[in-house]
Amino acid sequence: MFWIHSPRTIVFGENAVMEVSKYAESPILIVTGGRRTREIVSKMVEPVLEERGFDYQVVGIPSGEPNMEVVEELSKQMIKYSPKTILAVGGGSVIDAAKASWIFYEHPELEVVSELRRFYENPFTLPTLRSKALLIAAETTSGTGSSVSRAAVIRDDERRVKMPILDYKLCPDVAIFDPQLTITMPKDITAYSGMDALTHAIEAYVGIKNNDFAEYCAIRAVDIAVENLPKAYANGDNLEARKMMHLANMYAGLAFSQKGTGLAHSISHVLGARYGYPHGLLNASLLPYVIDFNAISAEEKYAEIATIIGLEASTMEDLIVELIFYLNRLNERLAIPSIDDLLEEHEDDLNRNIDDIVRDIMRDPTIRSNPRKPSIEDLKKLLRSAAEGEFNFYSLTM
Ligand SMILES: [Fe+2]
Repeated sequence: MFWIHSPRTIVFGENAVMEVSKYAESPILIVTGGRRTREIVSKMVEPVLEERGFDYQVVGIPSGEPNMEVVEELSKQMIKYSPKTILAVGGGSVIDAAKASWIFYEHPELEVVSELRRFYENPFTLPTLRSKALLIAAETTSGTGSSVSRAAVIRDDERRVKMPILDYKLCPDVAIFDPQLTITMPKDITAYSGMDALTHAIEAYVGIKNNDFAEYCAIRAVDIAVENLPKAYANGDNLEARKMMHLANMYAGLAFSQKGTGLAHSISHVLGARYGYPHGLLNASLLPYVIDFNAISAEEKYAEIATIIGLEASTMEDLIVELIFYLNRLNERLAIPSIDDLLEEHEDDLNRNIDDIVRDIMRDPTIRSNPRKPSIEDLKKLLRSAAEGEFNFYSLTM
């Protein structure tokens, strides 16, 4: 048996953003982020709402991944404005902030900090949402898949962790994928978010649950992303490549929202909270090492991914090693630094606090869907291998 959880409506294609008026109810609170996304809102979203006579208000959140203060502040703004629709327009940070704040708009009696920590520790225990507002999300990057996913990631600065809050109730009601919203994405964000999407697809595909729908979506996402990410990176004005990357993003989001992600995400959440590197960047640089560790438990699936990418080798084992090398080369092509370079300046912290870091990785809920269950010693070895730039698991046996 498997389930498919998704928004009730997904609108995909050029000018999809104009469809928002079909699904939104007035008054609308538009949640957005930094300068680029605010510009998108004023040029492409507000005119649509004005033309239809909707009441709306725009609130911006500080750029960067949201912490609990952002959620607290945003939920207060929601309570003050009482929207019937929350319209999140931005990257994953904006949509995640809107999702988490929505919980406390619907349930103002809940205390933000303690309840978010509780939801993080107890996935799928959120109270009922949607009695006050529905949530519409339009992504302006192609990678997080947040507009079709059950996840919201919120930083807990005091505990130095990122908390994925997981619950199907968090999946937006309507997701809008308009590639024109991604055209102005800078090169580095194109690379990081694109690799985040590819990581979602690969981690979902090899994840422990069986879900044919999710696996179809994952394979389709891999196929599209490897072809189009280098094109979108090389020329941001290539609307066709942008469109295809938005499609890969959507499929990858649908895939991981059913099956979960895996160890690249668990480690990335912890190292990202400690060292501040962007989510997609860490995922991209960690993924080859995680595959090296996981491969023994999901050989056929990794070999299938290699084949989809178009890699060739005479044995399944060689295909997996080719996949690891391929991902390293793709990172280089996208100017994504290697994990050993990223961790070099944090070597002391990593060595001194490795027990705490491993404990936090073990606590991250994304680890539950990883195909290989790591021990504490495994994780220490994996982190040290990544910090040294060495493949010490599957590749060594080749
Ligand atoms: Fe991700």
